[in-house]
Amino acid sequence: MADYVIAIDQGTTSSRAIIFDKSGSIISTGQLEHEQIFPKAGWVEHDPTEIWNNTREVIGQALSKASLTRHDIAAIGITNQRETAVVWDKTTGKPVYNAIVWQDTRTQSIVDRFAADGGVERFKPKVGLPLATYFSGTKIVWILENVEGAREKADAGDLLFGTTDSWVLWNLTGGTDGGVHVTDVTNASRTLFMDLETLQWDDEILSVFNVPKSMLPEIKSSSEVYGHAHSSSLLRETPIAGILGDQQAATFGQAAFDTGESKNTYGTGNFLIFNTGEEIVHSKNGLLTTLGYKLGDAKPHYALEGSIAVTGSLIQWLRDNLGIINSAPEVETLATTVDDNGGVYIVPAFSGLFAPYWRPEARGVIVGLTRFVNKGHIARAALEATAFQTREVLDAVNADSGVDLTELKVDGGMVANDALMQFQADILNVPVVRPVVAETTALGAAYAAGLAVGFWENLDDLRGNWQEDKRWEPKMDAEDRDRTLRLWKKAVTKSFDWVD
Ligand code: G3P
Repeated sequence: MADYVIAIDQGTTSSRAIIFDKSGSIISTGQLEHEQIFPKAGWVEHDPTEIWNNTREVIGQALSKASLTRHDIAAIGITNQRETAVVWDKTTGKPVYNAIVWQDTRTQSIVDRFAADGGVERFKPKVGLPLATYFSGTKIVWILENVEGAREKADAGDLLFGTTDSWVLWNLTGGTDGGVHVTDVTNASRTLFMDLETLQWDDEILSVFNVPKSMLPEIKSSSEVYGHAHSSSLLRETPIAGILGDQQAATFGQAAFDTGESKNTYGTGNFLIFNTGEEIVHSKNGLLTTLGYKLGDAKPHYALEGSIAVTGSLIQWLRDNLGIINSAPEVETLATTVDDNGGVYIVPAFSGLFAPYWRPEARGVIVGLTRFVNKGHIARAALEATAFQTREVLDAVNADSGVDLTELKVDGGMVANDALMQFQADILNVPVVRPVVAETTALGAAYAAGLAVGFWENLDDLRGNWQEDKRWEPKMDAEDRDRTLRLWKKAVTKSFDWVD
């Protein structure tokens, strides 16, 4: 058996390929960013062709950096930004429109139209999600209604839809030359179309949305052989054997396999996932019900999720739109030039507010400005916004589950930021714990693929790979924590008011 597994992580800002060995250690990485396209306020797009070309290239980078070939790779796993929708023509292989990204809010009028009959929660008992622009279903509807010729082609069975896992898989397995059109349960659970019990597309909902079933990928488990890389790929004949949406992949990579285990990932946004085991738990506190993972024929694991749209992307905004830092890591240096936030709170409701509020009309606010405030305070308030939002989601998880989390496992880019992690522990009042391999998203996809081909035997094998790297203990006194949280919540209410 080959000694390694490769994971393709098709994320919001970049595509990566990471090669892992049996201990879960990283052997090599390839990475390329893709363009973020903002045609109008609230619109966010990616070019699917650029994403596929980058994916091919990063696979080459990862293999050549480690001097490996396809013979060294036992399996391929795919993980992805989840709700981003691609629609393409199956005869030409060309997208009919750019990918509409999960952060895009253009479909609010479509949401309102469907919510007019039964409200935003009308499908929630079946699919676990409220009607919101975030999910891929409304993005498909937008393409069918707004791209010339799309409706006719879709009705004729010529168009395919996929989240970016399906797009990458279809191309990797040959595209117009026999590409496999499949997704896994975790990605399917983000469309608004999948029944959480049957794990199949729901015909009634599809007819309300007027989306032909022929466009949709077949729903499979998260860990099985879906197909093999095409002869045109550097990885030809290698089995593609794992797919997990990126947040579920990170949960899997953190070895949070059991009921009651959880993780919080700090990426473009933040996503806290709490494993509810074989039970479908419906939130009363603004969380989503989603699939955690399903391994082959075994029963699925479900999860509650607190999705926060803007955390890391607020730091990118400080860099790209305000220019007060030159690189994202500089935010920590700038934030530590001041002792506290100077009374400033930033609520980054750039795409409205997701969990636990689900307020699409909310807009970003900066409050508490005085002549005293400098860019250090702004940097600090931006970091603190991530921690406050996480606290609100954790409160919702505790309320829904009826048990208080006693520590929080974290991963993702921002967990390298010591100041943020300390503040996070202070605001949560529970320890925050980072594993040695913080690339848990790619690791989770590698695990799912490796399990399917026998590279790893079972979950205990994987649990043994998890190691603690660093732990932050809460230090803030209760009075300070209560006061700053009170002010944060007040700032949030200001973001609700800002409607024309
Ligand atoms: O739901 C959106 C999420 O899957 C995107 O994650 O890490 O690409 O920002 P990320």
